[in-house]
Amino acid sequence: MTKIKVALVGVGNCASALVQGTCYYRNMEEEADAIGLKRLFLGGYHPRDFEFVSAFDIEARKVGKDLSEAIFSPPNITLRLTDVPRLDAPVLKGQVLDGVGEYLKNVVTIDASPTVDVAQKLKENDAEIVVSLLPSGARKASAWYAKEALKAGCAYVNATPAFIASDAAWVKSFEKARLPIVGDDLVDQVGATILHKVLLKTLADRGVRVSETYQLDVGGGTESLDTLERTREVKRILKTKSVETALPYKASVIAGSTDYVDFLENRRDSYFWIQGLFFGRTPLQLDLRLSSVDAPNAGSIMFDVIRAVKIALDRGIAGPLLSVSAYAFKRPPQAMSLEKAEGMFEGFIRGEVER
Ligand SMILES: NC(=O)c1ccc[n+]([C@@H]2O[C@H](COP(=O)([O-])OP(=O)(O)OC[C@H]3O[C@@H](n4cnc5c(N)ncnc54)[C@H](O)[C@@H]3O)[C@@H](O)[C@H]2O)c1
Repeated sequence: MTKIKVALVGVGNCASALVQGTCYYRNMEEEADAIGLKRLFLGGYHPRDFEFVSAFDIEARKVGKDLSEAIFSPPNITLRLTDVPRLDAPVLKGQVLDGVGEYLKNVVTIDASPTVDVAQKLKENDAEIVVSLLPSGARKASAWYAKEALKAGCAYVNATPAFIASDAAWVKSFEKARLPIVGDDLVDQVGATILHKVLLKTLADRGVRVSETYQLDVGGGTESLDTLERTREVKRILKTKSVETALPYKASVIAGSTDYVDFLENRRDSYFWIQGLFFGRTPLQLDLRLSSVDAPNAGSIMFDVIRAVKIALDRGIAGPLLSVSAYAFKRPPQAMSLEKAEGMFEGFIRGEVER
């Protein structure tokens, strides 16, 4: 297969898991051996087909280093899954804009070197797909990099909650430039929202009348700290709305109230509480904790998304990839049920669904 030439915007914990994952799975040939991956091969592409040709950040301890080193530089704190050989992709200085929130000012050291011409670098390095892994509160920076991707003729993957793929004006610009776009806000492989919805749906399907439920979570790492300051409220609204759709009747639902616990590092603990009534109004309670690690939780879905975008480029498909976005993102341009999104995504890979 040809290489998939990827440029990373934001060399944080997620970028670290993504890059490490391509090395971790490199020599595997059998789906059965690829533990932790939904698909080892997708449309013929394997994770070893990824080539990281450019990377942009603003952290002094990452800018100027090879990507293979920068992913292990502080304040990154996620797990080391494997060793990463030199990638010959130096991390270049991007525009800071709103990339560093108030709560991160004491954690992040902004590099003093001048900003590079990002579009020019993307062109020089033959990047095909720009993957934005900026902090969730970096809305202006997200928009700026999307513009640079357009200028350079690259497809765009927005893993952040900034409104890009769900914004009609951005979608039009990518359609006009004949480039694919997917987003917004990546779903986790095993996220709290999906697990909460599956639990509620199972109870409702079995005739339980759920009256109250909440899901609260705590995490460490820079993204949790940024969320605490800039996106906690909006995330809570989005998650609560999403979880409510799992029940066919009204109940008291609160989902996604996040807090920051520094010693958890990149780990996340999600707590679920459900109360309801079953036969003869007999009470039922469920109390559960999911312990996971944030960055690796993004890896499997990111692998699928990047390969699906490459398939769109191979087929000359431009504009919003509705099936890919509905399958892999929390706020796609067109939302659909989990089953439908999964089916559409598979159909897209087989070439039966156009976008
Ligand atoms: N499982 C997951 O971790 C997961 C799931 C869904 C969505 N996401 C999203 O992925 C994004 C990245 O998450 P993360 O945990 O890697 O965050 P992180 O804080 O570890 O990394 C963000 C990186 O962006 C860099 N950055 C900040 N401003 C910049 C700028 N202007 N230009 C270039 N780089 C800049 C930071 O220095 C840092 O290296 C977030 O928006 C998050 O919401 C993550």
